[in-house]
Amino acid sequence: MKGKRVHIKSFGCQMNKLDTALVTSALRKAGFSLTGSEKEADVVLINTCSVREHAEQRVLSHLGHLKHIKKTRPDMVVGVIGCMAQRLGDKLLEHEAVNIVCGPAQIPRITELVTKALQEKAKSLAVTEKIRKTTEKQNQTLEKFESAYGIEDEQIPGQAFVRAMRGCNNFCAYCIVPYVRGPAVCRPPQAIIEQIKKLADQGVKQVTLLGQTVNSYKYRSGQRTYCLADLLVMASDIKGIEWVKFVTSYPSEEFFDQILQVMADSPKVCNYLHLPAQSGSDKILRAMNRRYSSRWYLELLDKARAVVPDIAIAGDFIVGFPGESQDDFAATVEMVKKARYKNCFIFKYSPRPGTRLWRAGKGLEDDVGAEVKQKRNIELLAVQEKVSDELSRAFLGKEVKVLVEGLSKKPHLNAADSGDNPQLVGRTATDYIVVFNGPESLAGRFAKAKITRTSPLTLFGELI
Ligand code: SAH
Ligand code: SF4
Ligand code: F3S
Repeated sequence: MKGKRVHIKSFGCQMNKLDTALVTSALRKAGFSLTGSEKEADVVLINTCSVREHAEQRVLSHLGHLKHIKKTRPDMVVGVIGCMAQRLGDKLLEHEAVNIVCGPAQIPRITELVTKALQEKAKSLAVTEKIRKTTEKQNQTLEKFESAYGIEDEQIPGQAFVRAMRGCNNFCAYCIVPYVRGPAVCRPPQAIIEQIKKLADQGVKQVTLLGQTVNSYKYRSGQRTYCLADLLVMASDIKGIEWVKFVTSYPSEEFFDQILQVMADSPKVCNYLHLPAQSGSDKILRAMNRRYSSRWYLELLDKARAVVPDIAIAGDFIVGFPGESQDDFAATVEMVKKARYKNCFIFKYSPRPGTRLWRAGKGLEDDVGAEVKQKRNIELLAVQEKVSDELSRAFLGKEVKVLVEGLSKKPHLNAADSGDNPQLVGRTATDYIVVFNGPESLAGRFAKAKITRTSPLTLFGELI
């Protein structure tokens, strides 16, 4: 399909963005070219997320916009890929603007689907029928697609994401991911390491291993069982790789000690842990089907800090889960105060059809009102902001090493003394965001900055 232009947009998490990179790479190899402009595109692909209703609404409203564009450009092909495609399947295909619906486990077919849509104008549906019962053959097809295409289309210079695990088997009561991404499958360590080697050859300095519960990575090969700690060591040994990160972890004891030890021992394994707690109330944790208590979780954090003293920890919380009383919420506030997260992602509960809670007949049960949810969200954010502010302040006057991402979108804060240099943004090994003035040519490279000012979520400094 030489000469056809594709525009692709991601609306989801890191996994979703990684799929976008794979799809982009596959289409490029098939002769398509990419365009940043939707209006110029022959094909528009939207990679979607189903985790909260709001994420789906954004996609639906974008489809409305595309329907409008198609009035003047009826030949344009619109494809919806990703988690929402898998969840809604043929219902989504009924949408006037949509030509292709392709679930996350069907992306190896993307070139064929797009080519067919351009030639035949027919609608096509590619979703996995029994997503919880995927076959070995399906896994192999995905693995082949994933390892063949690598990630030449890096989105941040010098950095790449590499999947360690697909899917999830945890079935947290609120969560749609196991039903749209399928069962947990660990990729072979050799495939992961080969991929990282290729990336390092292309100049990648930081890799982030991805999985919904990446710390539970486990792969048996002959006599040996590989865990995440092994992958971290193997990745660190690759020439050119300087920093190795991983997200997201599930609070569990399995392999935890090994992972912490590798963090403590290897300067390349970044001292950063994203370990969502979701709630500080044991009653709510049980209802969520999270398999730990708040006390046990906090002890896990103590242990992490004992082994890796400068570790930075980030969290996720859901407020307004069905049945969350004022006392339950107070327990969450307590936990956020005690956990001392670097930062926290806070979400308002959103009922998702098909999840455990929904199947238990608690479908639309969403008994904490919208106003209360909003109030709790704001309150929890304020508690976290105070902690973040204190932790950030400790960086004042210190020197930090950052991997520069590129130009900062923040308003220029040091315009007077910036000289000719623009404002750059980078991240430390512990995931702190650092903003400073410097030459754009530093993008994708390491730099040192001295911190002169802080805000809860950003450190500001001067290039050394
Ligand atoms: N696998 C990761 C992240 C999954 S989705 C983990 O287990 O931590 C990212 C976050 O979205 C979750 O941590 C959770 O806080 C939030 N989330 C998931 N389902 C949700 C729902 N139905 N409503 C609100 N937030 C939700
Ligand atoms: Fe969802 Fe729980 Fe799996 Fe995370 S661990 S993806 S929250 S089911
Ligand atoms: Fe990610 Fe959303 Fe799917 S969080 S795995 S894109 S449902």
